[in-house]
Amino acid sequence: MKNGVIWQDIDGNDIQAHGGCIIKHGDTYYWYGEHKGADNCPGTTRVDVIGVSCYSSKNLRDWKYEGLALESNKDDPESPLYYKKVLERPKVIYNAKNNNFVLWAHADSADYVFGGIAVAVSDTPTGPFKFLYAKQPNKQDSRDMTIYQDIDGTAYLVHSKDWNKTMNISRLNDDYTETDGFYVSVLIDQEREAPALFYKDGMYYMVSSGCTGWLPNQALFARCEHMLGKWKLIDNPCRGEKMDTTFDGQSTYIFEVDGEFYLMLDHWHPNDLKTSGYSILKIDILEGNNLRVNWADEWKGI
Ligand code: DGJ
Repeated sequence: MKNGVIWQDIDGNDIQAHGGCIIKHGDTYYWYGEHKGADNCPGTTRVDVIGVSCYSSKNLRDWKYEGLALESNKDDPESPLYYKKVLERPKVIYNAKNNNFVLWAHADSADYVFGGIAVAVSDTPTGPFKFLYAKQPNKQDSRDMTIYQDIDGTAYLVHSKDWNKTMNISRLNDDYTETDGFYVSVLIDQEREAPALFYKDGMYYMVSSGCTGWLPNQALFARCEHMLGKWKLIDNPCRGEKMDTTFDGQSTYIFEVDGEFYLMLDHWHPNDLKTSGYSILKIDILEGNNLRVNWADEWKGI
């Protein structure tokens, strides 16, 4: 699969799973993302919400379309899932206590003023997920977000707040369906979005982008020895040509395979979002807990 361009599923159709995440359950990987498989609304950089798609694969290369895990609402303008609104960056987490899957996404009004999250649950990874609610977590605005499960099983919503000025790390309840009221604000006034996290050998890492809409900018990684500690922005992890525009991409998720970590990027095409591309790039952890992401022309899977 050529990094930077749109990929195809095993039926030869474009993979519509933007702003997504990849999780493993059993021996299968599931890729969830924004289904943007329609033309942009004329003269805009938006596609009406279709829903959250789900693909499955055993090797991270041959992807089978499993359908919409969560569908938009076509009839009720009051619904948070109404197709004229915004549903972005879906993330799914497995909850061992309830043996179910919980989907979180950035839910917004078409003008991005609402700034909230939507939560849905399913007993199976492919769904359909049952929509629970949408709101502002901890009564604070929330736009780009991810869900991160800590090594002790505690899960967090990590989201840009205060109009993207600051990042919040908000703890979830045991069911992973609600924020439990406890949160810390980190990277205060650093204006980061598109957070993607992982942990390795006593250190937490967060790769994020700057805030330039659909246009690419420089990625930065932050690190901290404690999930709820004093996170510090360190450096651009990317090297080589286009290192200052994240290879013309934007972070969306980090997943692990056999102790190695991989960064998923979106390569947005604002004027034709359905053709936006993907990359998966290996993350190297260098001496001194520094991250390095080199461009690779191809993602071969495992
Ligand atoms: C940047 C975000 O990272 C994307 O998910 C999307 O919300 C765009 N902004 C919209 O301009």
